Amino acid sequence: MGLELAHWIFSRGARKVILNARRPPWRDYQFYSLNIWTKLKYLVVVDLNNTITLTGSENLLKEAQKLGPIGGYFNCALVLKNAPITSQSQGLFKEVLQPKLNACENMDALTRKYCVKLDHFVVFSSIIANIGVVGQSNYGMANSALERLCEKRRRDNLPGLAIQWGPIADVGVLTSDQYQNRAYKHIEHQKIESCWQVLERCMIQDIAVGFSMVLSRNVEHKKYEQNSVDLIAQAIGLKDIATIDMNKTLHNIGVDSLMLAEIKQLIYQEYQQEMDLDEIRNLTFGRLVEMSKVKK
Ligand SMILES: NC(=O)c1ccc[n+]([C@@H]2O[C@H](COP(=O)([O-])OP(=O)(O)OC[C@H]3O[C@@H](n4cnc5c(N)ncnc54)[C@H](OP(=O)(O)O)[C@@H]3O)[C@@H](O)[C@H]2O)c1
Repeated sequence: MGLELAHWIFSRGARKVILNARRPPWRDYQFYSLNIWTKLKYLVVVDLNNTITLTGSENLLKEAQKLGPIGGYFNCALVLKNAPITSQSQGLFKEVLQPKLNACENMDALTRKYCVKLDHFVVFSSIIANIGVVGQSNYGMANSALERLCEKRRRDNLPGLAIQWGPIADVGVLTSDQYQNRAYKHIEHQKIESCWQVLERCMIQDIAVGFSMVLSRNVEHKKYEQNSVDLIAQAIGLKDIATIDMNKTLHNIGVDSLMLAEIKQLIYQEYQQEMDLDEIRNLTFGRLVEMSKVKK
């Protein structure tokens, strides 16, 4: 999305953009875009400072200031380390949080000091921060934290906007092979052009967190991503549900409170049913299988 964002920023009148990345350009489309911008006499700098560190962020800011006053900061970095909560670790949380939260915290602190006239501080969040998804607790936390940072900036009368995007259609992580054939029950993928229209609308409003998602009109025709019982089994780290005693409650299987929270979310997503944690604790896999049959 970053490259498309740059195209959109240029289309809205910017003439100087610094693109921060972890590695030099390597894809054809990256070279193609850089070529077009050069031909149009736009100034584009590819910067490889590591913004996870304060020094790296400071160096990036200094590079930017050499080009003139800084109008805006946009963060659309992403690292995903999906795993059920049982397999999550401090390391995996860190990898996911760093490019989003650490980089933004650094830029927040530095722009407060050096760019008092900043117009835009925009960060890309996800609906995952809102609804939660099994296996993405770290990603949910990273995005949530970004949103709180933007709220804090707004309270301090500074620009700050986080957009909770739903799945995006044409570009970005969901277009990779790993995510091909993934379909959601109630949500369509949003075209990138439509995203920029939403972004623009959010940027001119006085809000800290925007939301952009396209609801599906053909729920019954959508492919289900995965069997819901398997999803719950995955959430609690069970590799094979054939090995489980169908009459044992989730409590007796050893499900802890964090897992219960994930399962609560899953049950809501899969069955549109609100259950309290005690009810979920006392569910058996036998009951979950029955529920999934009723759903079909
Ligand atoms: N695509 C979607 O459907 C979707 C939905 C909701 C929210 N979002 C949000 O939208 C944003 C863009 O997503 P995307 O789909 O474009 O992701 P993407 O295709 O995976 O691109 C993310 C980019 O971030 C770069 N990056 C990671 N860590 C970095 C760091 N420390 N410094 C600089 N760059 C770093 C990656 O670099 P490498 O190329 O080196 O890996 C990659 O180019 C993300 O914030 C994501 O959370 C996307």
